[in-house]
Amino acid sequence: MVLKKATDADADDMMSCDVVAIGTPNYFGYMSGLVKDFFDRAWIVIREKVAGKPYCTFGSKGGGGAQALETVERICDGLKMRKVADGLVATRQPSADVIIQCKELGKKLAKPEKLGQVTGVKEPRL
Ligand SMILES: Cc1cc2nc3c(=O)[nH]c(=O)nc-3n(C[C@H](O)[C@H](O)[C@H](O)COP(=O)(O)O)c2cc1C
Repeated sequence: MVLKKATDADADDMMSCDVVAIGTPNYFGYMSGLVKDFFDRAWIVIREKVAGKPYCTFGSKGGGGAQALETVERICDGLKMRKVADGLVATRQPSADVIIQCKELGKKLAKPEKLGQVTGVKEPRL
């Protein structure tokens, strides 16, 4: 597994990975500018090359909702990637329970062949 900050990730990372989990905080109801910058840089290179690649999203929020993950999912949908599980949103610092849910999400992503395509974002009750 490779963990990269959005600022260090590029199109090659997206094309070479088997599966990808994309994380972002909710900033103004959108993904963070740094994650958006990653997609801005990578899009032209990856747009025909990642169709079907399994992915999921995770993130954090303050008092708002899961909009930031939905904005990531819209881009991944445009890239025809395969969402394998509902995204997870923690309110600020993830609780122990959310960390357990994140680990379960990671396990699902590691075995994408067992999963279909799903839609929507799961917001844990905290
Ligand atoms: C510039 C900025 C904008 C934010 N906008 C939102 C928002 O629209 N909705 C929301 O729920 N939380 C919002 N938050 C709170 C963050 O989502 C929350 O603090 C965050 O998930 C923790 O990430 P951080 O460590 O990068 O602050 C915002 C925080 C910042 C700094």
